[in-house]
Amino acid sequence: MKAPHRLYIETVGCQMNMLDSEMVVASLRQRGYELANSPGQADTILFNTCSVREQAENKTYSALGRLKQEKQSNPDKIIGVMGCMAQKDQRMIFQKAPFVDLVVGPGQLQQIPDLIEKARTEGGQHAALSLGRRDGAVKDIKRSHETYDPLRDPTMRPTPFQAFLRIQIGCDKFCTYCIVPMTRGPEQGRPPSQILDEAKILADQGCKEITLLGQTVNSYRFRDGDQTTRLADLLNQLESVDGIERIKFVTNYPKDMTYDLLSAVRDLPKVSPYLHVPLQSGSDAVLKRMKRGYTVADYREMMQRIDETLGEKAAISSDFIVGFCGETEDEFQASVEMVKECRFKNSFIFKYSERPGTRASDHLPDDISFEVKKRRNNELLAVQNQISEDGNQAFLGRHVDVLVEGPSKKADLDDRPSRGPIQLTGRTHCDRIVVFDGNERLVGQTIPIGIYDATAHTLIGTVVTQEATGEIVSLA
Ligand code: 5AD
Ligand code: SF4
Repeated sequence: MKAPHRLYIETVGCQMNMLDSEMVVASLRQRGYELANSPGQADTILFNTCSVREQAENKTYSALGRLKQEKQSNPDKIIGVMGCMAQKDQRMIFQKAPFVDLVVGPGQLQQIPDLIEKARTEGGQHAALSLGRRDGAVKDIKRSHETYDPLRDPTMRPTPFQAFLRIQIGCDKFCTYCIVPMTRGPEQGRPPSQILDEAKILADQGCKEITLLGQTVNSYRFRDGDQTTRLADLLNQLESVDGIERIKFVTNYPKDMTYDLLSAVRDLPKVSPYLHVPLQSGSDAVLKRMKRGYTVADYREMMQRIDETLGEKAAISSDFIVGFCGETEDEFQASVEMVKECRFKNSFIFKYSERPGTRASDHLPDDISFEVKKRRNNELLAVQNQISEDGNQAFLGRHVDVLVEGPSKKADLDDRPSRGPIQLTGRTHCDRIVVFDGNERLVGQTIPIGIYDATAHTLIGTVVTQEATGEIVSLA
């Protein structure tokens, strides 16, 4: 019998990419592929790539460079580049890395199994790309970016009881720094019936937590005749799927955080009160240069709306870009002030990275030095970390419900008494990370944990025994 093909896949970037990889792996496993742990053991190597910052691309090009030798010694090995960098750099990838066989954009992933087969049997280099944003009529561009959600294989997820569920692809916001509208195409919502069916499949497979994915997930809308479904409607429908215990959704756009949506979050017990709503900058002038479409006052109003609807149950997190084109010290300090004012659960902070093909790259000079970007990044992070720690300290002495995900990074699996407790990690309903000692059998269960210590990023606790749960105050 012929030995099965062996696939090695490396994924960088956002949750959308993780989901794309899951789908591609599942489709190749259906064709008999097995997974390999290293490029050396594989006959097919795929890189699922990210273009949001230059550093991510550099890493991929270096990793590709390291495969040159491998391909020379084993010319039958198929090497493919998929994802956002494939769509952005297109055939240039063949010039930079002539030993690459496939370049496949995120809107063409359904072609991967056949293209691998073609490269293997016919040789040659093959590209499958979607249309650019100016390459035709909107409907043709939309059609060329396909969602790819054909198969759900629970064995493909790190934790089978948690899954991403795509509800939207693409983005129409065109923030001036961002490449995503170019690589992932126009915003398109998936039909609610498809989403609901997929949620039911996931639940039948034992999935307890779904995270709905979209670039601006709360802008989701799907029109069918005169009926429009929005995210709030979708959440209402998903709430009734038996087996699903938690529903999260990322990433949100501040302007579309409507009262209706927040009311749904408040009224639906399965929906997590965790909201990731990137502010990007605390300065109106910078927000304008970024073309974010809102002001600091709009964001404040949104925060107030969240406070009025969800109260202290809500956990808000944000993204910031420091050192954007022309950012003055005062403009940067305005971001520091907003972090202090909004007291985010956590923030992801990025140094501005110029992306060819974006408006900022065409019209605004990238004039803040790397050193200044680095200093601002560290400063903002230090302020945020203190706030995160204070926020976590408030949980001391409380009990929280934790969905146990698995051994923590620190768990020493080799050096433990047989079947004894290990350090486990999980998350609260509002997305706080909790570590505690427990038996591995707890993985996949939602259990109460008493919190006795806290750092900026982690709550530390112990399993609450049945007798002690009489007075549970579960805030999370
Ligand atoms: N440079 C730095 N950060 C960026 N982001 C998006 N584009 C860029 C860029 N060109 C950040 C934003 C976004 C997050 C996913 O990545 O903060 O919210
Ligand atoms: Fe990029 Fe802005 Fe769209 Fe987010 S909303 S994906 S930052 S263009």
